[in-house]
Amino acid sequence: MPQVTLEESFGDERPVQSPVKSTLAAKRYTSRAEMDAEWAGVWTQSWLFAGLESDLADVGDYFLYELGAESIVVIRSGPSEINAFYNVCQHRGNRLFAGNLGFVQQISCPYHGWQYGLDGRLAKVPDAERFDPLVDPTLRSLKPVRVATWAGMVWINMNPDAPELEEFLGSIIERLNPYRFQNFVLVQQQTVSLGANWKTVRDNFLEQYHVDFIHPQHASLVDCCNSTNVLWPLGHSCTMVEGYTTDSRYPLPEVTPPHLIPLLQGLGMDPDDFRGRVADIRSAVQQRKRVLAPELGHDYGDLSDEQLSDVWQFDIFPNTFMTIQAEELWIYGPRPHPSDPGKCFFDKWTLQIPAARASDKDRGLTLNPGFQSQVEDERPEHEQFDQRDVVSGKHSLTITIDQDIAYLPDMQRGMQSRGFDTAVLNIDEARIQHFHDWLQAWMDGQISG
Ligand code: FES
Ligand SMILES: [Fe+2]
Repeated sequence: MPQVTLEESFGDERPVQSPVKSTLAAKRYTSRAEMDAEWAGVWTQSWLFAGLESDLADVGDYFLYELGAESIVVIRSGPSEINAFYNVCQHRGNRLFAGNLGFVQQISCPYHGWQYGLDGRLAKVPDAERFDPLVDPTLRSLKPVRVATWAGMVWINMNPDAPELEEFLGSIIERLNPYRFQNFVLVQQQTVSLGANWKTVRDNFLEQYHVDFIHPQHASLVDCCNSTNVLWPLGHSCTMVEGYTTDSRYPLPEVTPPHLIPLLQGLGMDPDDFRGRVADIRSAVQQRKRVLAPELGHDYGDLSDEQLSDVWQFDIFPNTFMTIQAEELWIYGPRPHPSDPGKCFFDKWTLQIPAARASDKDRGLTLNPGFQSQVEDERPEHEQFDQRDVVSGKHSLTITIDQDIAYLPDMQRGMQSRGFDTAVLNIDEARIQHFHDWLQAWMDGQISG
């Protein structure tokens, strides 16, 4: 059975349970009015993961963060200064930037040539004397959006009065700092357009009830049904799943199951050594990684043994999941569509430790044989595609996420039916209820930050 823990300590006295208990009515997923309330109460109020600091290495580097109908530019304005602005010229409202990311020496509007410094200050107005009165740069500089960084990740917030990012993330920061994500390297960035509400996607990744049915391969890799779930204030949560083991609902196999064999071999271990003692594999892998890491040029630093073998998934409200192994990090989640509650965009960023490259090529050994090393010298292209490309096999976000994505539009269509009113949840789905309770509190204006 999954364990569900309410963790009160969060850096302040906020209660872990939301003041509301929300009903998961179908209209939450289909209604334009709900979508508008989410925009007012959540998207324009909360800290949101926007991109990576590694894309802002040099002064003038920028990336765009598109959310609903908004476009926000995040730019390195100085060696130790990152700014974010609404991507809109203060002359007559033209979009200033196009494309996902790039480099500029100054910010110029292509329409009438207004120019802004990298700090957003209006610097030049062509034929300025023809404005009467003259344009006041303090009133016509770019409109700022709050920005903060943590562990190589860049976060934005449209609410000027929200608490600091550190307060919003609470104890999640100290739990994740030992991984040193700032040292990880981006190896893949993908965005898939989905015919599903953003919360249909969220709910899928907040429960493991479906795992036996659509991810049968998990049963011989991880113990999903025995996860530990922690709920935090504001709607955050996490689930911790033991890896290098088998599903505890089934009898323990006598020999190393097929899915684990290549993983052990990649670590230079002999799967036959575990005949009759498959339960020992997990701790043996933890010890083997400790031995192998210095040889392969990696330092696990402050990570616990569990962090070397297990898969932890953190959910940062409202839309950022992080699936974490010691060597690989996925940051993923849905962004709402500008106008259609039945659609969203699903982003996935894959990052790996740099040692992944050396270990694969030189020795035939790797610290995490569960994934292919993809660390390259060049930043990967941002792949953009839609759900049909996943179902056809043209693009993959890994087999597990592909399996999820194949179902999501059917979930959405079902919830739009006259034959469906409300969802009902079990203990495996407790994180869904937690998320929706807090979501409702945010939408009701009970939360700031
Ligand atoms: S709208 Fe940008 S310069 Fe006119
Ligand atoms: Fe899934």
